[in-house]
Amino acid sequence: MKVFVNKMIPEIGMNLLKQAGLEVILPENENLTQEEWLQYCRSVDVILSIGNDFKYDKKFFDTCQNIKAIALYSVGFDHVDINEAVKRNIPVGNTPDVLSRATSDVAFLLMQAVARKASYNFQKVKNGNWGSFDPLHALGQELYGKTLGIFGLGRIGFEMAKKSKHAFDMNIIYHNRNRNEEAEKELGAIYVSFEELITSSDVLSIHASFTPEHKELFNEEVFKKMKSNAIFVNTARGGFQNQKDLYQALTDGTIWGAGLDVTNPEPMSSDDPMLELSNVCVLPHIGSATMEARNGMARLAAENLIAFSRGEKMPYCANPEVYSHHS
Ligand code: DGY
Repeated sequence: MKVFVNKMIPEIGMNLLKQAGLEVILPENENLTQEEWLQYCRSVDVILSIGNDFKYDKKFFDTCQNIKAIALYSVGFDHVDINEAVKRNIPVGNTPDVLSRATSDVAFLLMQAVARKASYNFQKVKNGNWGSFDPLHALGQELYGKTLGIFGLGRIGFEMAKKSKHAFDMNIIYHNRNRNEEAEKELGAIYVSFEELITSSDVLSIHASFTPEHKELFNEEVFKKMKSNAIFVNTARGGFQNQKDLYQALTDGTIWGAGLDVTNPEPMSSDDPMLELSNVCVLPHIGSATMEARNGMARLAAENLIAFSRGEKMPYCANPEVYSHHS
């Protein structure tokens, strides 16, 4: 079975694929145009897909009818039209759990970086403006006992809530599709309406999967309802926020600050005015960028394809419906 791997992944994944007898096709140059990418996809049976530059939509599936399975090198699958994949019986694998700690670490880091104006202060040092001790300049805020609102309390949200509870004794409130009993029991998390989440949170951190109905859910109307001391943290997908509205809310004092590992659009342009703000910290989508998480992702993606190649169910599957047709 031929597998197209569009970028090099950690060795553990490559070795597993090769040991299982899969023929790995790597591009000569990793920065593929859409047409080059399609050409590779047309010549293989399955894909180990890295990044979300290319979309798996109806057009893709019509063009590449040879594709039988896709293993994503990500937990998120918002770049895949899952309904189309199900219609065509194409399993789509993803990489849950292995990146929950790393991604929540970045949310935790951003929350603190914004609370203590770390980016701004780092820039000051870099620009030669360390200055003398000033009792009133660039004061941050403490997080002890504050309320952390989690939008989407799954595995990553749980890890963020756990750290925040233990480090700062934060009160945890959350809004989710379903109640999270474990978080309620272990962390005293309280389920609230979306309205209560946005109006009561001192820190609001997004950890939900991104779906079309979430598009720019965090917009002017929502920011206006948030507390003026609120810190907005997004490590999920940039599409959750209306970037212009967020910029406005950050400049007119509607909210206190923002920590973003994801932007809308991505990548963020280096002349984006958001980068000039002292109350913002932006990172280039590095949530899962640890050796541990990336090794785990490589292993899971390879395991998904190996299982598929043996006629077995993918162990980590974003559309398990494909298997219910058969059983
Ligand atoms: C994920 O796994 O979804 C991360 O955002 C990397 O794309």
